[in-house]
Amino acid sequence: MDNIMSYETVELDEREGSIIILDQTKLPNEVQFLQLKEQKDMWQAIYLLQVRGAPAIGVFAAFALYLAAKDIDADTWEAFYAPFHDAKEYLNSSRPTAVNISWSLNRMEQLAIDNRNKPIAEIKALLLKESKEIKAEDVWMCRRIGENGLTLLKDGDGILTHCNAGQLATSKYGTALAPIHLGVERGMNFRVFCDETRPLLQGARLSAFELMVDGVDTTVICDNMASQVMKNGWVNVVFVGCDRVAANGDSCNKIGTSGVAILAKYYGIPFYVLAPTSTIDMSIEKGEDIVIEQRPPEEVTKMWYKQRMVPQGVKVYNPAFDFVDNELITGIVTEYGIARPPYTESLKEIFRRKTETKPRL
Ligand code: MRU
Repeated sequence: MDNIMSYETVELDEREGSIIILDQTKLPNEVQFLQLKEQKDMWQAIYLLQVRGAPAIGVFAAFALYLAAKDIDADTWEAFYAPFHDAKEYLNSSRPTAVNISWSLNRMEQLAIDNRNKPIAEIKALLLKESKEIKAEDVWMCRRIGENGLTLLKDGDGILTHCNAGQLATSKYGTALAPIHLGVERGMNFRVFCDETRPLLQGARLSAFELMVDGVDTTVICDNMASQVMKNGWVNVVFVGCDRVAANGDSCNKIGTSGVAILAKYYGIPFYVLAPTSTIDMSIEKGEDIVIEQRPPEEVTKMWYKQRMVPQGVKVYNPAFDFVDNELITGIVTEYGIARPPYTESLKEIFRRKTETKPRL
């Protein structure tokens, strides 16, 4: 089996003016790369989850916006900015819940605005540099999350995870799976239970795949088996990723995560969210204020079956995410340390540390 730990999830091909991604819709059966040149194909790659996971789509969006900027034929700031801003808004409309997309696009746009008096060619060069930095920082953040998360684990632990918050969802290592990959690198052993994660099976197809190739003892369970696995005493800790953390610590992640958190509380199992500061949105007060993406009914009714599996005409509710109430979260593991309740205070402290520490790239 290929070791995807050595592959790039998202890569800029400067010479070709394209982005290369590992097509996640084809995993685990085929390891196939896509080379994307057109903005509409990039938008679609995010929407169809060919590239997915909050940090990965943030990095991807930065590269996509740089490529859009590169192709703008303009000599003045005014002529450049209008199509540049349109390209940013277009990319930003691809998926609403993960804040990393708007975080990276806003960062790119702000850089351009701050340098509006410079020649357009120079602005383009700065955007290229910034997009590469966003990726390099993502690798650094995930590595730090791995180190901080590993302090919560001991050899032989049983870990339950939901969706895929691993290498495939980031530029490297992942968030929720980073401590596991790092622990394995250091000779530790874990037993990992992957919720299959209906309806798009990111746990079964992606987490199980990347953990297996990394040699981790991995068991896939249907989402409705998590309670039994916890009751059996097989789970010491739950690690999940996140798409947007609100200022009060409410954490929005793949649909089903809030149910896992409720079960963990019932069984007295610590529940950790692992997320970089690029996923923490201090402008959002609480989970209810996060926009939840609604996905097409076909993902539930027929996507993984040979034939349609529900009656014609039945209503389908298919939200892609839910949020975990902060009171169910034992800690939020970031690159700047582990935030603990009350999150309104500890997340501010994380951002204070961030202003004091530069990432080492
Ligand atoms: O719809 P997806 O597959 O993009 O959802 C991904 C998740 O929910 C992840 O847990 C989250 O983005 C964190 S990835 C480090």
